[in-house]
Amino acid sequence: MRMALKFLASRETFYWVMGARIHLHVWALVLAVPPVAMADPTTQHEAIPILLRRCVMCHGQDSQQGGLDLRTKAAMIEGGKSGAAFVSGKADESRMIHRIESRACPPDETISMAGIERVEAKELRTLRDWITAGAPVVKQKIEPVPLDPQAREHWSFKMPRRPEVPQVKTQQSVRNPLDAFLLRKLASNGLQYSAEVDRLTLLRRVTYDLTGLPPNSEDSLGREPHGV
Ligand code: HEC
Repeated sequence: MRMALKFLASRETFYWVMGARIHLHVWALVLAVPPVAMADPTTQHEAIPILLRRCVMCHGQDSQQGGLDLRTKAAMIEGGKSGAAFVSGKADESRMIHRIESRACPPDETISMAGIERVEAKELRTLRDWITAGAPVVKQKIEPVPLDPQAREHWSFKMPRRPEVPQVKTQQSVRNPLDAFLLRKLASNGLQYSAEVDRLTLLRRVTYDLTGLPPNSEDSLGREPHGV
C-alpha cells in the first residue's frame, strides 16, 4: 500500500500521466484536422515553364516549327499548321501530348544539340493535368505600387528639354555649347579652363589620368580634337 502511494506520488508517475494526456491531445488534434482539401488544379504557372524549358527553342520567338508558338495559351489554341496544340479537357486528343509521347518532339536528330532534352515523366504529367483541367489560367493581380508624389519630381521622370546655353564671361573659350555649361560651373567655383597646352602635354595628362602611366610610343593624339 505504501509502495502504491509512493508510486502515485512520484515524479515518474506524474510524467507518465501527463505523457498520456499529451498523447491524447495529439490524437484529438490529428482527428480534428479536416480531410486534405482537393488539390488545386494545375495552372499555367506550372505548365508554361515546362514548355518554355523544353519547347520554345523551336516553338517560340526565333523559330516556330510547324508554324507553332508554345509561349502562351492563346498561341497554343491558335496552333500550328495542323491546328490547335491541345484540346481543352482532353489530353489524349491533344497534339502536343501526342508529339511528346510519340517522341516526335523534340525530334530525334536534334536531341544531341545543346539544351534540347526530352520532357520528363513528371513534366508530362503536369502538362496532361493542365490540359485535363481545361488549361486554367490564373489571373495575376498586379497591385500598383503607390508612388510618393515627391519622387515624381526626380529629373528622370521629367520630359527632357534642351536647356538654354548659358552666356559666360570667357566666351572666347567656348568652342562647343558644352563648354558654356562647364565654364559656368567652373566660374561658380572661381575657376576657369586651364591654359591650353601642346599636344604632347595633353597626351601625358590623358594617359596619367586614365592609366596612371606616362604615354608609350603607341599612344598618340592622332586626330585633331573636335572643333579645333
Ligand atoms: C528541336 C526542335 C523542337 C523542339 C525542342 C520541339 N519541337 Fe515540336 N516540332 C518540331 C518540328 C521540326 C516540328 C514539325 C514541323 C513540321 O512538320 O512542319 C514540330 C511540330 C510540332 C507540333 C505540330 C505543329 C503543327 O501544327 O503541325 C506540335 C504540336 C509540337 N511540335 C509540340 C512540341 C512540344 C509540346 C514541344 C516541347 C515538349 C516541342 N514541340 C519541342 C521541332 C521541335
